[in-house]
Amino acid sequence: MTAIEAVVLGRKGIHIDINPLSVFITKTLVQPIDLNELGAAYELVVEEYERLAPKSEIDIQTTLQRYPYPRGITLPRDSDVEFIEQLFSDKQLAELALLKHLIVNIGEGYIRNHLFLMFSGLLNRINLTYHTNTYGGGDSGVMRYYRYRIAPNPTLSDALHYFGVRYKSILSAKRELAPLINESNIHNFQAYQGTATDLNRIADESVDYVYTDPPYGAKIQYLDLSTMWNAWLDLPVSDFDRQQEIIEGGRLEKTRDEYSDLMAQSIRELYRVLKFDRWMSFVFADKNPSYWHTIVETAEQAGFEYMGAVPQSNSTRSFKKVQHPSTVLSGQLIINFRKARSPRAIMKLDLGDDATDLILETAENVIAERNGATIEEINSELIIKGIELGFLDLLSKKYDDLSPLLDSYFDLDDETQKYHMPKNKQFKSAIPLELRLRYFLLSYLTRKRQAGVDPDFSEIVQDIMPMLKNGLTPEEQTILNVLRELAREMPDGRWRLREGGQMRLDGI
Ligand SMILES: C[S@@+](CC[C@H](N)C(=O)[O-])C[C@H]1O[C@@H](n2cnc3c(N)ncnc32)[C@H](O)[C@@H]1O
Repeated sequence: MTAIEAVVLGRKGIHIDINPLSVFITKTLVQPIDLNELGAAYELVVEEYERLAPKSEIDIQTTLQRYPYPRGITLPRDSDVEFIEQLFSDKQLAELALLKHLIVNIGEGYIRNHLFLMFSGLLNRINLTYHTNTYGGGDSGVMRYYRYRIAPNPTLSDALHYFGVRYKSILSAKRELAPLINESNIHNFQAYQGTATDLNRIADESVDYVYTDPPYGAKIQYLDLSTMWNAWLDLPVSDFDRQQEIIEGGRLEKTRDEYSDLMAQSIRELYRVLKFDRWMSFVFADKNPSYWHTIVETAEQAGFEYMGAVPQSNSTRSFKKVQHPSTVLSGQLIINFRKARSPRAIMKLDLGDDATDLILETAENVIAERNGATIEEINSELIIKGIELGFLDLLSKKYDDLSPLLDSYFDLDDETQKYHMPKNKQFKSAIPLELRLRYFLLSYLTRKRQAGVDPDFSEIVQDIMPMLKNGLTPEEQTILNVLRELAREMPDGRWRLREGGQMRLDGI
């Protein structure tokens, strides 16, 4: 979507993904097409299908002998069945094989691709992993459980009916896109299968903006999970593609280190192709701080300057999230970096043994501010603070999951999935006041700097005090002392975070 939006905005957009399915879908979606021609081809396929569709068990077996379909291709290890053909009933296989045969025989390549786009959507529905739920919706195992899970009671849909449904939705997408992307600007759009770890088709310093949304650790095995689609659509995936895929686990059982190395290579490549003073937005979601640490550290080593992070929540909750609310995050952070000629490094705050208290205090602040907070909200704030104050490293060494810590200090409301302060109890911080003050002041000033705002002293006091409501509250003089260490006073009396590279603030 990013590349498509770029072209709509009059820019050039390049979409790159290691998965040929992603490239096929994107390319076909934007390809200008004569809708009458597509309509005629669709009608032809439907007509032929109705004529040849298997109606009896004998028909099904004859169809299966007559038309090819993918078979003998192994599925990922955690699938319920070993081979691709076992994902379908004989009837489903015969119907899909016939439909594919009819599409393959459509003359024009670009029309054929559009029919295959409909077919790819249909595949989600016509297989034994698909089932409807009590709310009227439904999905395949891949989309819902992130694995090929045979449904205990698969929903057997009518292939031709859903081919028609796909036709209507592609038609409406095409109608919407036609005024925006057409023969006049399609040359601004490029999509190719490739690896972000080696962007050899893109020249150094030629790109104005990078938006990247890499896989999140071991969460979703994209290439493995696309096996059914890539096989039916004849989209090849090579061993090299699998080696380059930036995931943890999967068919090649990649380790966390391999994942981090590939991620680091891709960040260096993104740096290479980006022009100076241009930005990269990096989308990521995981509650394990060590991934964040790797990303931020690699980006800094490559020469990027951290420019801030914004949380972005998903509008829909995945099934996994509904099942395990505190272990799967539904929201992501978008971390922005700039390719600067002399990048400023993130300041470091050494929290030592006080880290746990500060984590809890940060969580408590988020909970108080929002009158109850979800794991995502707390996590986002902690990751952002961890990045901005340079303690991600420590966070990642101490915790790979903050949920147990939060569970032991706060009450989780099962219904709203929000953490609250336990009744009649307040978490009392045992951290020295000045360290707490540094912690919140540094984060506060970093954000003000990113927003291009210099607060005056009374604003600072007003904003900082609520964060320090636990335990002792500082005198204004103490705030001023710490402020002088971290920031400088401008001629107009406003305060700005000191610049000048890395600064270690080793406690008090
Ligand atoms: C989190 S998904 C992004 C999904 C996409 N933003 C969307 O909303 O559908 C991660 C994507 O990274 C791709 N990917 C994994 N390794 C890659 C690599 N080395 N080069 C390019 N893309 C890669 C996967 O195929 C997958 O499509």
